[in-house]
This record gives sequence, structure tokens and C-alpha cells, in this order.
Amino acid sequence: MCGIVGYVGERPALDVVVEGLARLEYRGYDSAGVAVLADGALATAKRAGKLVNLREALAEQTLPAGTLGMGHTRWATHGAPNDRNAHPHTDCGGNVAVIHNGIIENFAALRAELEEGGHKLRSDTDTEAVAHMLEDELASTGDLAEAMRKVCRRLEGAFTLVAVHAGDDDLVVGARRNSPLVVGVGDGENFLASDVAAFIAHTRDAIELGQDQVVELRKAGVTVTDLEGRPAETKAYHVDWDVSAAEKGGYDYFMLKEIAEQPRAVADTLLGRIGADGRLTLDEMRISDRELREVDKIIIVACGTSYHAGLIAKYAIEHWAGLPCEVELASEFRYRDPILSRTTLVIAISQSGETMDALMAVRHAREQHAKLLGICNVNGSTLPRECDGVLYTHAGPEIAVASTKAFLTQLVAVYLIALYIAQVRGTKFGDEVFAMIQLLAQMPEKVDEVLGTMEPVRELARSLAGEKSVLFLGRHVGFPVALEGALKLKELAYMHAEGFAAGELKHGPIALIEPGLPVIVVVPPRSRDVLHDKIVSNIQEIRARGARTIVIAEEGDTSVEPYADTLIGVPAVPTLFQPLVTTVPLQVFACELATAKGHDVDQPRNLAKSVTVE
Ligand code: G6P
Repeated sequence: MCGIVGYVGERPALDVVVEGLARLEYRGYDSAGVAVLADGALATAKRAGKLVNLREALAEQTLPAGTLGMGHTRWATHGAPNDRNAHPHTDCGGNVAVIHNGIIENFAALRAELEEGGHKLRSDTDTEAVAHMLEDELASTGDLAEAMRKVCRRLEGAFTLVAVHAGDDDLVVGARRNSPLVVGVGDGENFLASDVAAFIAHTRDAIELGQDQVVELRKAGVTVTDLEGRPAETKAYHVDWDVSAAEKGGYDYFMLKEIAEQPRAVADTLLGRIGADGRLTLDEMRISDRELREVDKIIIVACGTSYHAGLIAKYAIEHWAGLPCEVELASEFRYRDPILSRTTLVIAISQSGETMDALMAVRHAREQHAKLLGICNVNGSTLPRECDGVLYTHAGPEIAVASTKAFLTQLVAVYLIALYIAQVRGTKFGDEVFAMIQLLAQMPEKVDEVLGTMEPVRELARSLAGEKSVLFLGRHVGFPVALEGALKLKELAYMHAEGFAAGELKHGPIALIEPGLPVIVVVPPRSRDVLHDKIVSNIQEIRARGARTIVIAEEGDTSVEPYADTLIGVPAVPTLFQPLVTTVPLQVFACELATAKGHDVDQPRNLAKSVTVE
């Protein structure tokens, strides 16, 4: 949510900032704005809607060609997404400009205090209060960084703030708490952004900022302090992907590119983790084998698609590692009283590593002394810092809002963790673990095979573009796959879609079946005879009531043929790995159907890639 870019250097700041905002569009937003500082004067421009509207405004209102600036894409929380509420916000005199991501929870009290002090606030946002607070602090300190530190000490909630001041045309100040902000280090120029994608075209050297840190960005360098002004420790890193990874590479949408990249992404998650002796080595695990042997319960917390990866993880962990495993929506977890102890392992799954609910769940678990393991795709994000250990998925940047390659790689990560725990705890013999790892290593090929056979799925999707509703059914690991298929269709096609455990059908959902209703059924491998036979019965039950059955089953599974109006074949793989091949047709289906309806699949309405507020 909200994209932030800050720049100081030698180039025209406006170009750098607008280009950066374009690369952050995927985060989800509903208005955009910029501020540029030149010759001691601050100029801003902002517009509701997409960047194209801001660009039009910039064509009408020429901003000065300064070399210091900042930009913002806003996902509305406080106040409607109109021009007035768009960022940047300025103080009474128009000398300080501020952009913000997050929610300032005590803003009502701060606003009242400011108004009482004579400030005139012009928007409905929580952000504007910060501009006026900085105005007051600047009047006494004259130092923007010090003013920012003082203001931040009074703020409650989550925020990334970036501010500039007309009095200094070589200074951009940023601050963060529970919300992302990274520094890009260039040569004679420096950058601030919500995400490295914004500056990857200029530099791949980045600095991670910690909690409650304030950064002063000047052409010649970067200084980071804590809120008391003491020098702060930071972590520099080199981004291991380049600008081409953040571009569409010939595809119409990032989502299509990301779906196509899945075989490579799955292979990259496995890379370097299988030793020559066939044993797994998870170098960033940082939880000792002794501690893992003491674990008596695993709890997985995640949101959205990552939650579905967690649901599948449960089957793998219980089966291989022999440990009880609960899976919980991160947003619910901390509002219950979960029973945790030093021997509980909490696994948080988050592509972005910035989802606020996931971060809060991790902190809640930390307070109760649980061990914490993160599964994350974004290096330098907050989640890995908050966990004892981390497993990076190495999927490369995922730009489309709806998750695809991140999901498949999260599955590989949870399989690796489950097998690793089985190896450490000895719940499976070494040769059994090794055999599974060998099969896992074949998965990139299997995913590639599926991608090669998707034309009939695309045709089917186009033919169903006029439908009102689609149901998805599955059993065992096919159940979370059904949930994921339904989520993709909701996100991209804005269509009613629901996933059910096929065994629950007769307890309610079967009442929804009416003639012609498309129902997609994920069939387990034939080797799981009991499961398989049960779902074949379910297909017959819905077909008898007139449903149009679309069946995803192992190639050569002739037993389902008589009951399938459309049959989609996937390669035969072990049951627990089946989500890797059955999810792909559902991604392609949702993407194609949404495109047929004319939707932008990269930026679905109302959604944000990374939900950084609760
Ligand atoms: C948002 C995105 C989803 C994603 C979810 C969790 O809702 O639109 O695609 O699955 O957040 O994100 P995370 O980064 O924590 O995996």
C-alpha cells in the first residue's frame, strides 16, 4: 500500500520520482502526487486516480527543474481518494512537504492540538498533522531531521514518513516504524523508497532501515540515527536482481510473466538447499537442531494467498515431521489467546515481509517466547529481521498484485521446512527424506509441462467470462488449492467465487448448485484411492444437479472422464506436491477470464500488493 520515493542528486528530480512511482504502481493506490524543491521554493502537484492523471497535471502545471524531490502513490485510509487528500501535504506556509504510508493512530488528538494552536488543516488525512507538527518543531530547531525525530516520538501507529523543507535543497528526511522504507545508495545521488523496485534502474546498493530510525539523505551521503539522534546500526546489501526483472519482458501483464516464470522460480527456491549427500541444508534457518527437536507444536500465520500456502504446509508438516500444526489468519491470531511456549515454532509466511497483520502476529508470538521462522520473498523487508530464522523463496520481484510465483515458491519452502524437520527429528528415515527431495527436484519440470498445455484452459476461461459465479471443490491439499482458485477469480475477475472442501458439499454448498453453474473440481492422485473415490462421487452428485463440471485430474485418470464436462490433465506427482501443478491452471483461468472482461490483472481494483496497515 502507498508507494514512496525520495531523491536527491544531479538529475531532474521529477523524472526520477515519477519513474520510481511507476515502478511502485503495483503496490495499489488511488491518487498520486509529487513535490520538487528548486531555488528555495517547494512546488507540489497531485491528482486523484492513476499516475496518468498526475502526468496530465504535470503537463499543465510545469514544476521547477529541481534535483531534489519526492513522490507518493496513496491508498486511501483517512479521507476519500480525491485531489485534496492526495500527498504531499504541506504546512501552513507551504515550506514543508510530507508524504506518508501507514496510519497515525493518535492523529485526532494531534489535529485538535494543532488547530487549537492556530494551524489551518486543509485535508481529512492523518498525514497533514505531521506537516504542521514539523512546522512547529522547525521554528524552534531549524533542523528538519531533528524536527522529524521529535515529531516521531509523539506519533502512535505505523508510518513511513518522508519530508522536505524549502530551507535546504540538499536534504530529504525519512523515518519509519512498522512500515517499509529502504535507502538506495548511488554515486552523488541517493534514493528513498518503499521498495527497491523504485530505484533499481539507478542503483542496486541498498540499506535496510530498522524500527524507529530517521535517515538524512544528501547528495554526498546518508546518515541514519535513532529517534534520540544517536547513530544507528543499519544493514547494507546488494540487490540480486536487476531492472529487467522488474519489467514486463514482452508480456502484456506482469502477472502473465510471473506465471510463466514459475518453473524457474521453483528451481531457484530449491537451489543450494540440497547437499551433495542428499541432506537438506537450510542456511538461514538459525534455529538449532536441538531447538527444533524440542518443538512440540507448530503454528503458521499468514494472510491471503500466503495463508493458503500455510494450509497446505499443515498437511506436509503433520505427515513428514509428525508435529501438530495449526494454521491461522494472521489478522485473527493476536486477538485470540493462542497457547504458545518456548517449544512452539511459529512460521510466518509473507511474500512481501511487510504485511502488517503478519508482523503483528510475529510480535505477539515473540512476546510469548515462541521460536519464529519467516518464509519471505523480499530481502531487506521487516519480517526476516523480526524472526529467529528465515527461508527466502528467491522468486524474484513479484509485481502483479495477485500472488502467483510467490505462492508456488512458498509451497516449496514449506516442503523444505517440513522435510528438514523430519530429517532433524528423525520422524522419517534418511532415505525416505532423500526420495522426497529427489521428487521435489523434479517439480520445475512438471510445472513447465503444465504451462505448455494451457491453451484449452484459456479458451474455457474466455467462454465463461459472462458467468456470475464459479465454485471450486477439493479434498486434502486440493482444498486449499480450491480456496486459492476462488481467491484468484475474486481478485482478478471481480466475480463471485467460493472454494469448499468437497466433503462439506452436502452440508450446505450443494444448495448453490443449479443447472449450468461452473464447478471446478481438483481431484487427488489415483494412488490416494479413498480420497480419489470420494471426490469422484462428489463430482457425480453435483453433475446430477446440473452443474457444469470442470475437472482437474492426473493425466490418464480415466475414472473421471464420464463425469467431466471439461477435463484438464496435470502430470502425476506425489499427493503433497500436487498443489504445485493443480494451482497453475487456476491461475491461468482467472487471469484469462479477467483479461477477457477487460480488467487490468496487474492492478485489480481496491487491492494492494502489500497491506501495510491493519
Ligand atoms: C495482499 C495481496 C495478496 C497477498 C496478501 C499477503 O492481499 O494482494 O496477493 O497474498 O496481501 O501478502 P504477503 O506479502 O504477506 O504474502
